[in-house]
Amino acid sequence: MNFSKKYTAKLLFSIFVLSPVWLQAQEKKAPQLGKATVKEVIDAMTLEEKVKVLVGTGKAPKPKTPPGVSSGWVPEPTMIGHTEKKVPGAAGNSCEIDCLGIPSLTFADGPAGVRISPKRKGDTINTYYATAWPVGTMLASTWNTELVEEVGRAFGDEVKEYGVDVLLSPGVNIHRNPRNGRNFEYYSEDPLVAGKIAAAFINGIQFNEVGTSIKHFVANNQETNRNYVSSTISERALREIYLKPFEIAVKEAQPWTVMSSYNRVNGKYTAQSTDLLTTVLRDEWGFKGFVITDWGGGYNWVEEMQAGNDMIMPGRPDQIETLINAVKHDSLKESVLDRNLEHIFNVMLKTPTLKKYEYSDKPDLKAHAKIAYNAATEGMVLLKNENAALPVNKSIKNVAAFGWGTYNTLTGGTGSGEVNKAYVNSVYKGLTDAGFKADESLRALYESKQPLKGAIIDAAAIENDIAIITIARISGEGYDRSIEDNYMLTDDEKDEIKQIADAFHAKGKKVIAVLNIGGVIDMQGWQNFADAILLAWQPGQEAGNSITDVLTGKVNPSGKLVTTFPVKYSDVPSAENFPGQPAERPEFVLYEEGVYVGYRYYDSFNIKPMYEFGYGLSYTNFDISGLKISKKEVNGNLTVTVTATVKNTGNVAGKEVAQIYISAPDSTIDKPEQELKAFGKTRLLKPGESEQLTFVITAKDLASYHTDSSEWIADAGDYTVKVGTSSRNIKIKNTFTLSKPIVAEKDHPLRKPDVKFTELKHSK
Ligand code: BGC
Repeated sequence: MNFSKKYTAKLLFSIFVLSPVWLQAQEKKAPQLGKATVKEVIDAMTLEEKVKVLVGTGKAPKPKTPPGVSSGWVPEPTMIGHTEKKVPGAAGNSCEIDCLGIPSLTFADGPAGVRISPKRKGDTINTYYATAWPVGTMLASTWNTELVEEVGRAFGDEVKEYGVDVLLSPGVNIHRNPRNGRNFEYYSEDPLVAGKIAAAFINGIQFNEVGTSIKHFVANNQETNRNYVSSTISERALREIYLKPFEIAVKEAQPWTVMSSYNRVNGKYTAQSTDLLTTVLRDEWGFKGFVITDWGGGYNWVEEMQAGNDMIMPGRPDQIETLINAVKHDSLKESVLDRNLEHIFNVMLKTPTLKKYEYSDKPDLKAHAKIAYNAATEGMVLLKNENAALPVNKSIKNVAAFGWGTYNTLTGGTGSGEVNKAYVNSVYKGLTDAGFKADESLRALYESKQPLKGAIIDAAAIENDIAIITIARISGEGYDRSIEDNYMLTDDEKDEIKQIADAFHAKGKKVIAVLNIGGVIDMQGWQNFADAILLAWQPGQEAGNSITDVLTGKVNPSGKLVTTFPVKYSDVPSAENFPGQPAERPEFVLYEEGVYVGYRYYDSFNIKPMYEFGYGLSYTNFDISGLKISKKEVNGNLTVTVTATVKNTGNVAGKEVAQIYISAPDSTIDKPEQELKAFGKTRLLKPGESEQLTFVITAKDLASYHTDSSEWIADAGDYTVKVGTSSRNIKIKNTFTLSKPIVAEKDHPLRKPDVKFTELKHSK
């Protein structure tokens, strides 16, 4: 080619090929997600493009020790891939394919607030704080699904306004054992409470047209060796207890995504389980979203794809390579990838990023703080109130505030559930803002980390009108709580509480304990020294205000326990089987207690708890009457409608939770003494006011899972319906009878435990 020919060719290339007209024409040719059908987009993708979308954009190198090889494997910090993120501090992103209009989705933690970086490089003007909401257990302790949905709506607005597509929340793992370091993120020991609260939360978040990721699916009930331990569990317990909250939430709220867990179930990684991710989740429950791994979960990427774990997070280059090679060598069908992509794209179509939503980075944090405050006041549980020690007497001015939690109040736990909030309203601030005069010498002492001495306590008892002791406990992702110095109070703590109580009681002054904790603690002995105990959980950024307003009676407490406080740790049904065997690095953990988790155990085996499930005091009294039960069968579908009237019989306005427990007849399988089947919270009732509540219970709700036939059966016999204000404070009851058994649903048999064990049984 001579010079002019070369030049002409170049010119023509520039005019036609690089011209915007040509580029546009090319773009038109390639189907665009959101414009063309999902199928057309998938058909237009190369194998490399497909795999890139199925694996997140994390750039971490392959970890040195492959997961699953060593029983002690824990993810290396480098596993959490770092990439140029649209939203700094977000947990991860999916990969964009520009030419097909496939955007990069942003995923951010977590259950107590949008976890993103509060500051950004090169930006000295703006901040990106998020509201720190009360932790999951506290939201559940409100037993108020409307309020939780309202929290979800405000929380979801922050998700959307910060440019995030999917919030990695809620966490609905069951409180199997109080030592689990992440219990604060989770809702309850009871699957119905966990499921209903989760559904309300998801509906609230997704109202904003952003997604959720319900996690960790499933039976991830401990942190110790979480990446390898196998939860060894019967199918009945798995379905009735551990899968149940996911089932309720999927059916009632359709979360956009589900996050499979790190652990194995009966020897198989959940991320690689077709049983769990396809049979149960999609075929049985009708899940329509996509499944993502937990960050670095599982180890066989091909199996993950086949099982229906649609997206691997946070993603690594070697995972992309492995999947491409597997397709090329026929060990993975490309149609499996297409199926998974379809799941992802169907959700992607709804995302703000695909819709090019212009987020503000300025959610209304002030308005949200008010909702966080409401949820915190409503989630507090008044455990003890002797001689009406609370609300604090109006004449009280001077407060001796003990405990480091007064000054460094914990809003939540640590790990991915932590939130970068703009402020923490401490107990000290809450009290002083409300007009109390706090003992400044105590403050100086705690702030300078000086020991509390007897003489200081004596002086404080002379100078102040009341003692408020804040007992705080932190826990978080990656470790379980030790019995000695986390579940138990230390000897020093117990001594101090006794000394404070002796000094104040000698002067006729009250002692109030405030529990700023994320999970159950030991209450034995020391609790006798306090006149009142307020369980304030980890209440989010509005901690101090909300605690103060409950202490003063500005807000009447109406929270109820969602998890039992046992008398002693050894009473916990899984005490012997936590965290599994061998103890240092458990390979498996036997769920020998079967369905007898929490109150199902304490009530069936007559073990008296310290504070029972469903318990919580109020500054007023309530009565429940007028129980009516009506049974109807329409087109073969049974519905049992229960109504009852709650009346405020005390002197101040308050809310009450009516809890419906049902004792089912035994059949070929044993049943817990009673199980919560419905609950409802009244509006704020003035003294003398009543409200009638109605509950609808179906055959599936009444049914137990018969593993032999893979059927949910409501057995024939007498059912006792009890309406109470706790699991042990039943106000009224009655029975109805099923003359013949009802098969409510037939499911598929799941993988059996791979270690032999004898499951706990109980016969009434
Ligand atoms: C946690 C998840 C979290 C993810 C992303 C994991 O370590 O188990 O709950 O969503 O990290 O931060």
